[in-house]
Amino acid sequence: MPSLADKIAIITGASSGIGRAAARLFAAEGARLVLCARGKAELAATADEITRAGGVAVPVAGDVKSEEVARKLVDKACEEFGGLDIAFNNAGTMGEMVPVPEISVAGWRETIDTNLTSAFLAAKYQVPAMLERGGGSLIFTSTFVGHTVGFPNLGAYAAGKAGLVGLMQVIAAEFGAQGIRANALLPGGTDTPMGRSVINTPEIRSFVEGLHALKRLAEPEEIARSALFLASDASSFMTGSALMVDGGVSINRT
Ligand SMILES: NC(=O)c1ccc[n+]([C@@H]2O[C@H](COP(=O)([O-])OP(=O)(O)OC[C@H]3O[C@@H](n4cnc5c(N)ncnc54)[C@H](OP(=O)(O)O)[C@@H]3O)[C@@H](O)[C@H]2O)c1
Repeated sequence: MPSLADKIAIITGASSGIGRAAARLFAAEGARLVLCARGKAELAATADEITRAGGVAVPVAGDVKSEEVARKLVDKACEEFGGLDIAFNNAGTMGEMVPVPEISVAGWRETIDTNLTSAFLAAKYQVPAMLERGGGSLIFTSTFVGHTVGFPNLGAYAAGKAGLVGLMQVIAAEFGAQGIRANALLPGGTDTPMGRSVINTPEIRSFVEGLHALKRLAEPEEIARSALFLASDASSFMTGSALMVDGGVSINRT
């Protein structure tokens, strides 16, 4: 039996990279999906691909910074499929890549809103819907940056992503007794459009790969498999955790 049979899930950032890989995998494991990203065409392409492969996915194009979109995603899951069991809150942005004193105030706010306030807005609507079903699993995509590594030029990104871990822990404590689990997923460098926007020369790629104990970047599917673990009953006693799937970037010193 597929590990997400009869489950209903929201996945944000589903048109690319980790979110797209997770959408394909969750659908193959039997989940019915509500997918979100801003770009309509790319999101529709992901949903179409899943449908052609025999899965169930509906696209809801929108910006995760918007409370209206957070509400709409949950409403869609409830109207279309009857409720919500899983939320993979994965959309994110790196923002301005400059030292902290040079980050513009607008840029700081944009990055924090996209990476952290979006998670609060998501949980605000997702938790009540999950409570209606007697529980659920929330997963927030964080990163090693700001958790175990102070990577230069990523101040707003690190702050927002570290904030996700705190928010996740509080949700886990507040709603564990009612069957809701909340965890964060902390990928290492992953070969996606976001990853490649920074790792854009062979020299930088070789440098970044070398930071990892495994001496390579992750494929998005490898991160998606860990999201599936957190979404499914395979992780039934896991809540409040920051799961590092980082190729050893956090412990590597060579
Ligand atoms: N790649 C890495 O090395 C790495 C490492 C650690 C953590 N992460 C985290 O993993 C997550 C996924 O990143 P990725 O590498 O898969 O990046 P990606 O391939 O660039 O995908 C990002 C996805 O998020 C969507 N998105 C971005 N801003 C959005 C917004 N405001 N509202 C709605 N959707 C939005 C994008 O679509 P639209 O642009 O069309 O909206 C796209 O679907 C991010 O949270 C990132 O911080 C990535």
